[in-house]
Amino acid sequence: MSDPSPVAAVRLVDYHPPPADMRAEVLQGLSRRRKALSPKYFYDARGSRLFERITRLPEYYLTRTERSIMAAGMGQMADAIGPGAAVIEFGSGSSTKIRYLLDHLRSPAAYVPVDISRSHLLRAAESLAADHPGLDIVAVCADFTRPFDLPPLAAARRRLVFFPGSTIGNLTHDESVQLLRVMNHVAGANGALLIGVDMVKDTATLEAAYNDAAGVTAAFNLNLLERINHELRADFDTHAFRHRAVYNAAAGRIEMYLVSQSAQRVRLAGREIRFAAGESILTEYSHKYTQAQFAELAARGGFVIRHQWTDAQGWFSVQFLERADAYCPEA
Ligand code: TRP
Repeated sequence: MSDPSPVAAVRLVDYHPPPADMRAEVLQGLSRRRKALSPKYFYDARGSRLFERITRLPEYYLTRTERSIMAAGMGQMADAIGPGAAVIEFGSGSSTKIRYLLDHLRSPAAYVPVDISRSHLLRAAESLAADHPGLDIVAVCADFTRPFDLPPLAAARRRLVFFPGSTIGNLTHDESVQLLRVMNHVAGANGALLIGVDMVKDTATLEAAYNDAAGVTAAFNLNLLERINHELRADFDTHAFRHRAVYNAAAGRIEMYLVSQSAQRVRLAGREIRFAAGESILTEYSHKYTQAQFAELAARGGFVIRHQWTDAQGWFSVQFLERADAYCPEA
């Protein structure tokens, strides 16, 4: 870890996470019997813009439902969290949500965005710093899927991890438990978690959210191939693949694929990848939970659910968790 260094009004603590090896990961994913690509490569500049558009689509209920739940429940959330919290955001993409939270908490002590991308991180930290002159802001550049330690922060009554957007749903159950354990470690004694979780609901509503009529989600998914073309010298014909998102009810998740429309060969970084007609590449999961399933996950992660807020239809939830050992020291 390097010394905290001043960047505008914010400190940066850089754990120097190793840069992803996109070429090796993409080749490995496409060499498997069931081809897959890591969703982390969705978010180049164009992908990030497309994702912003997804969050405003009429079919994509998640973002606006979470926002309205936060607005309606904010008073109770602030009471549950209490005054003087250090707020640690895992992944610092959602600056509108963190702003809303910081504006409504009682005298927050610190804001700590954690992200693997140094540029996202500094943007999030600096834009917050301008509007919250009294707040101790420490940007932490780290891979948050692995345990890491926080630098010393301004004295706080407790630490609160914030993880909105049902991003937890994009992980498998085992990965989610692992991440919850990292959050548990980072939150420390008396620590808490405020997390957005998308709930199980009818298949038609779920599938519409990931198959919007305007085709933005399709463009977002296909952009992965365009990015690979640009960055890895590949020659994917993006018109020869089709976006497909289906709800797998047994597994409780949306599965997103790119489906090859014909038998074809693609050149990628000096290799040849073959596709059969109809063969698909898995690009993302989005798990949906029942309350009982999420409670079980939380327990495996070392948390107890203290409060949950939801919309009138029960489509989305914001949940407040505390460390299980906060009240059960022998556990
Ligand atoms: N976590 C959100 C979800 O699963 C946002 C998201 C991540 C998303 N990747 C996506 C939405 C791909 C649409 C397509 O819905």
